[in-house]
Amino acid sequence: MADLRLEIENLHEVVPDNALEQIKPDVLGAQKALEDHTGAGNDFHGWLDLPTRRNLELDDIKKAADTIRSEGKYLICIGIGGSYLGAQATISALGKQIPCHNTNETQIFFAGHNMSSQYLTELIKTVDWSSTWINVISKSGTTTEPGLAFRILYDQLVKKVGKHEANRRVIATTDKSRGALKRMATENGFQTFVVPDDVGGRFSVLTAVGLLPIAAAGINIDKLLTGAYKMREICRNNDLYKNPALRYAALRNILYRQDKSIEILANFEPALHSIGEWWKQLFGESEGKAGKGIFPVTVDLSTDLHSMGQMIQEGMRHIFETFMIIEDAPTQLTIPHWKDDYDGFNYLAGKTLHFVNQKAYEGTAQAHKQGGCPNMTIFLPELSEFYLGQLFYFFEYAVAISGYVLGVNPFDQPGVEAYKSNMFRLLGKTGF
Ligand code: PA5
Repeated sequence: MADLRLEIENLHEVVPDNALEQIKPDVLGAQKALEDHTGAGNDFHGWLDLPTRRNLELDDIKKAADTIRSEGKYLICIGIGGSYLGAQATISALGKQIPCHNTNETQIFFAGHNMSSQYLTELIKTVDWSSTWINVISKSGTTTEPGLAFRILYDQLVKKVGKHEANRRVIATTDKSRGALKRMATENGFQTFVVPDDVGGRFSVLTAVGLLPIAAAGINIDKLLTGAYKMREICRNNDLYKNPALRYAALRNILYRQDKSIEILANFEPALHSIGEWWKQLFGESEGKAGKGIFPVTVDLSTDLHSMGQMIQEGMRHIFETFMIIEDAPTQLTIPHWKDDYDGFNYLAGKTLHFVNQKAYEGTAQAHKQGGCPNMTIFLPELSEFYLGQLFYFFEYAVAISGYVLGVNPFDQPGVEAYKSNMFRLLGKTGF
């Protein structure tokens, strides 16, 4: 079975072979610091072995997901940042692209990632509360956005089904012993799952944080973990040419040292949009420190070629691009032949839409390279649980290495607190 692979042909002109050799000691040093747990933030290295930890509460997660699926028409997942992006990315990549209300599947909604009253009001009106479950996810248990959403939605649930039944339908994913959410869960008898102490939010997709909503959406979490496990094995390799995560981390830093300070992650499949959102948090929060870091941006192509294409092709030359390409399409549509050929597309008749999409990628990659936007491509053989598992682990490993090479601690996020202090002061919270 083929694995995720990294293609770097469109980098050759800006990254000569000796550049990889030159940065190799830094990269291997970073890998050693990660694998030996001697690098900064080593108390948050727990994600490294998540695919191999067999005590992942897996059976309980599957049982809870089965109950939700058999009893619940709706599951509302409340969380922000790392507490929802991984689940949302997986579910929107593998679930239905066009929402369908007549489905028998449990529909997953997300809340607590904004403070919009319009969003929450519409959500409250959309779900059938007699058949709704809530998974509230917060490692700290004190984050404002999910905290407020939970207050409002829990009250709705209690109002509709009574406190006893509401408590049976709330699952809290949080710290094993600390925090407000843990205390409330214990006092009200919510089922709980644990965010491990040594796993930060943005690295938590393969814990109950991601796995419970993903399983509740009917996605096979064993296959997701198997894919991550395979990538974990690949990432043990200290050969830059055999370990795509090391190579990706190395190349990003080589480009950064050439003043390429913005990375665009580009996809040609709408299903990958939310993977980009997850990636932005992972790389932005891990690397943006001490006045350093590559600014992560995402585009959905070919859509955004008609909005951002001009800027990428001819704007300031401080960007590089990473394409995420799915090689195989699960469904094939063939372009029909029209006798009158009004639009002049008969030259494509008989070809599949996927074939045209692939050519659009190839043409774009060439054009951007020629325009001074060097690029590389991550190829996934197909869009499946197995390859998403590989992709998540690949990016997590790469950002850890990349952050160490950059000289920052990739596992903390002190800057996230700044807006909170101001907001709390403006809201009149005691102590601010
Ligand atoms: O990566 C992180 O640690 C953060 O993005 C958190 O996931 C996010 O702030 C949510 O925190 P919590 O799960 O404590 O509510």
